[in-house]
Amino acid sequence: MKIVVIGATGTIGKAVAQLLKDKGHEVIEASRSTQPAIDIADSASIDAFYKQVGEVDAIVSAAGDAVGGPIDKLTDEQVQFSINSKLQGQINVVRKGLPYLRPNGVFVITGGFLAYKPAPQTSMYAVANSGLEGFAKAVALDLTAGRRIVIVHPPWVAETAAALGMDASPWPNAATTAEAYLAAIEGSANGQPVFVEGYDPTA
Ligand SMILES: NC(=O)c1ccc[n+]([C@@H]2O[C@H](COP(=O)([O-])OP(=O)(O)OC[C@H]3O[C@@H](n4cnc5c(N)ncnc54)[C@H](OP(=O)(O)O)[C@@H]3O)[C@@H](O)[C@H]2O)c1
Repeated sequence: MKIVVIGATGTIGKAVAQLLKDKGHEVIEASRSTQPAIDIADSASIDAFYKQVGEVDAIVSAAGDAVGGPIDKLTDEQVQFSINSKLQGQINVVRKGLPYLRPNGVFVITGGFLAYKPAPQTSMYAVANSGLEGFAKAVALDLTAGRRIVIVHPPWVAETAAALGMDASPWPNAATTAEAYLAAIEGSANGQPVFVEGYDPTA
């Protein structure tokens, strides 16, 4: 399959791209710093990217950011950034990707466990993750010709936890997390969330 991975230079995206290449797929690795580049917070950039890449069998997004902080300290700019990047950015990756996704193709977008298990100072992540989950459920009803959409909700990834000075031992590494994206691509889920095996926050 020809698969776009947006966020392919990041902790999760790099592992997803590697796993997909190991499985023999043709992977177009994309981010703001690749060629062609894509900035999911910039509509025109998404259009230009898809125009250059053409039709594909899967579009994976492991990109988009939000700002953490206590609700009484978040600025208008931080709230807007979080919505533009992680939430609206991935909504636009799907909307604008529709004409380029072949029949039976799949969109895989990224939320996170904070949709289910919020922690203090994570309200904007929770907004993006929960919003994207509702988006995926509804978009699944609009898709045609066997096309699907799946949202992966990763837990903390060990590499990220370690970089933040947290105990990484309870968490899967990026390579294990990437397996959930592969399962989303190879499986038949549509509109449903997919979790890393053993890290279902609803369990
Ligand atoms: N790591 C975790 O523990 C964890 C847990 C739960 C959920 N998540 C979610 O998973 C996603 C990926 O996380 P990560 O830890 O892998 O992030 P990361 O290491 O910071 O990497 C982010 C990737 O996205 C790209 N990117 C960032 N903003 C972009 C934009 N506006 N347009 C296009 N590409 C952009 C970055 O490359 P450029 O800078 O070159 O654009 C990079 O490739 C995020 O949505 C995050 O919230 C992560």
